[in-house]
Amino acid sequence: MRTIIEPFRIKSVEPIEMSTPEQRARWLAEVGYNLFRLPADRVLIDLLTDSGTSAMSAAQWGAMMVGDESYAGARSWYRFEETVRRVFGFPHVVPTHQGRAAERILFGCTVKRGDIVPNNGHFDTTRANIEYLAGEAIDLPCAEAADPTTDEPFKGNMDVQALEKLLVDRADAVPMVMLTITNNTGGGQPVSMANIHAVAEVARRYGKPLYLDACRFAENAWFIKQREDGYADVPVPQVVREMFSHADGCTMSAKKDALVNIGGFLCTRDPSLAAREKDLLILTEGFPTYGGLAGRDLEAIAVGLDEVLAEDYLRYRNVSIAYVVNHLHDAGVPVLRPAGGHAVYLDAGRFLPHVPALQYPGQSLAVELYRHAGIRGVEIGTVMAGRDPATGTERPAPLELVRLAIPRRVYTQSHMDYVVEAIVEVFQRRESLPGYRISDEPPFLRHFSATFAPL
Ligand code: F0G
Repeated sequence: MRTIIEPFRIKSVEPIEMSTPEQRARWLAEVGYNLFRLPADRVLIDLLTDSGTSAMSAAQWGAMMVGDESYAGARSWYRFEETVRRVFGFPHVVPTHQGRAAERILFGCTVKRGDIVPNNGHFDTTRANIEYLAGEAIDLPCAEAADPTTDEPFKGNMDVQALEKLLVDRADAVPMVMLTITNNTGGGQPVSMANIHAVAEVARRYGKPLYLDACRFAENAWFIKQREDGYADVPVPQVVREMFSHADGCTMSAKKDALVNIGGFLCTRDPSLAAREKDLLILTEGFPTYGGLAGRDLEAIAVGLDEVLAEDYLRYRNVSIAYVVNHLHDAGVPVLRPAGGHAVYLDAGRFLPHVPALQYPGQSLAVELYRHAGIRGVEIGTVMAGRDPATGTERPAPLELVRLAIPRRVYTQSHMDYVVEAIVEVFQRRESLPGYRISDEPPFLRHFSATFAPL
């Protein structure tokens, strides 16, 4: 069969409250054209993020009912620890309430003023946690990542030569090397096994540990299985074990590929680092057998980590995103290619060439998708990254994108057909979309709360 069906049926539903373009135009004006300020009930299809928005399975809900809420040494903790060790292969597991807490604790134990952390692409919170410690977060994406129109299979790779050069020049200042799998800021693009191996080899030669930002590890493993020579017949759990065998540890936001609404962890092979991490954990997250989570959360993560490795699930996940990307591309809509693992990225710069970067084409497109069809995405362009924190001046971001992140197991094919239709309709009258100006902005992270006015 050509049609790939959702490999689940739905036993519990959440109604979507329908609205009209006229209502949504009014609501947009009320929130200053900032989609973060909209009540979620006013959104028809919410593609703001794939983080914490997964639908849990009946097995996960069932496991939550048997969660052990003991403060220390809960049964749920041991189940969680056993699963994380088995899936990732690290001996030391530290639970946290979400990914950025894992980052804060890892960097809190390893990064000091003036240090440099290289990554294929830091996520905002990863960068912010390094900068908070007066360190420097450097992105070293591969050259193919710069062109959104080509179909290279592993655009998430790190530039290994650039890493080597950094280590030749500044090894003393580098406490660790990181790889983000998949690379969210680079379009959800995967990192190949060969690249993980090559990065690990360079890091080891300079005596540096390699940490993986593992948020979307299963999606990355699926791409390796599909696209990299020699992996077609390797079971996904084995691909995952091999990926992590090259690393010294990881940070994880369970809100992505553990199919839960909250949770995270960090892992390491280093017992003394694990001990220091647990000391820090107790200050802000909690005792090391729950780390800011309820026992029921640990249960849901343990079940989710196994469910996410099912090949039927990963095939459906991958195909449902590629389906949207390919339909848009066929209709002439500029979209980042190839399809990433968790989101569709519209290239607003090419979609709206008549809107200059400092009139925020991504914002204009995101606002219109909401007004036209009730779809909420997020601008990743000059609104998000255009204000230089050092000088306060404004400059265009490298790309003007709108990310439509697809929550896991939440929307069906007809929702995706609706999304494609809406985008194509907006594309057909793209010349009519206005630029925007910012009417009011906070001192930092302006995209969350700034207000806008159409020009
Ligand atoms: N690393 C990556 C690659 C991420 O995408 C995120 C979150 C985090 C770390 C932080 O995890 O939210 O659990 O603290 N990304 C979300 C997103 C917010 O929408 O892309 P967290």
